[in-house]
Amino acid sequence: LATTQRHLTTAPRDVQRITVFGAGLMGSGIVQVAAQAGYKVTMVDTNEKALENGLSIIAKSLPRVAKKQSPDDIDGFVARAKSNIATTTDRLKAVENADVVIEAVIENLQLKQELFSALDQVAPPHAIFASNTSSMLVTDIAATVSEDRKTKFGGMHFFNPVPVMKLVEVVRTEKTSDETFETLMQVGRRMGRVPVKAKDKPGFIVNRLLVPYKRKPAPFGTPCTHTAPVEAVRMVERGDATIEDIDTAMKLGASYPMGPFELFDYTGVDITQYVSEAWEGYAKRGLIPADLVKQSPMLRKMVYEDKTLGKKTGRGFYDYSGDKK
Ligand code: 3HC
Repeated sequence: LATTQRHLTTAPRDVQRITVFGAGLMGSGIVQVAAQAGYKVTMVDTNEKALENGLSIIAKSLPRVAKKQSPDDIDGFVARAKSNIATTTDRLKAVENADVVIEAVIENLQLKQELFSALDQVAPPHAIFASNTSSMLVTDIAATVSEDRKTKFGGMHFFNPVPVMKLVEVVRTEKTSDETFETLMQVGRRMGRVPVKAKDKPGFIVNRLLVPYKRKPAPFGTPCTHTAPVEAVRMVERGDATIEDIDTAMKLGASYPMGPFELFDYTGVDITQYVSEAWEGYAKRGLIPADLVKQSPMLRKMVYEDKTLGKKTGRGFYDYSGDKK
């Protein structure tokens, strides 16, 4: 069977130009690893300030990567990557010559659908569309594009911080063609990531597995993702332990690189909230067991009332107002 499958594998398309929507932490990280790999990348956001912020995240990160990957020519490495990056706020022009379009905008289904259906009209017919969603089904996001584009639609789910985290989940919907899938796998590899194939199911692989883990200790060395800490929030809500003690306990007792609350703040408290809200919907559709998803009053308050979203707002579970930018 393995031999047959190898013979059936379709050759990937040649990709040279990638357009990334969203200049936030994830979007800028994806732009960076694509530019490092030699792709010509266009980063798009709705305003110049967001683009400047994305460029500044990249400018800080590039020398750190160069120090490891190209210690003898740090300046050259940084300059080459930067020369591959262009920015624009013109979302339609941005995709005119794109081979692959990766979307990393906020987790709002209508917004993503509207964006992709507008891009569908102007992007070249061969262009592949991919979403970096962590909480939604790619099939739902692709619902508003043409039937032909649906075959050229998949997911590329990266992990934060993108320049450091090696994994990318390449998501296949029922309609994703072999050529599209193989092309996204190849793009992931060329970006220096390790791609894994994931079906279009809630949580894909990593987040889907770590949710059940939240009631059991994770295996040694398992990185803690934003979905795992939900039980940690409930611990605090119940008054079982403090935020600081839970973080210390998980770092020193389970070898997590960050405690759950540090990771919440690092990734963005809102991101976790969006995942749990989307999953509530998927539980109602019978796509995920209902007991995996339960809203936390503390998270809802932080996201919708206090707007304490983590490092990016200067306050989350911890205070970052004294941090230098
Ligand atoms: N860019 C480039 N290199 C970086 C970097 C960045 N943004 N951040 C860290 N590094 C590298 C650098 O080489 C750095 O060395 P340097 O300081 O000499 O440049 C080295 O990592 C060590 O970094 P730090 O000393 O700052 O800190 P740590 O050793 O604690 O590592 C960490 C930081 C890699 C973020 C680590 O704490 C970690 O792995 N945390 C868990 C991250 C995680 O679980 N991510 C997944 C989140 S879930 C997700 O993304 C899903 C999505 O859907 C939201």
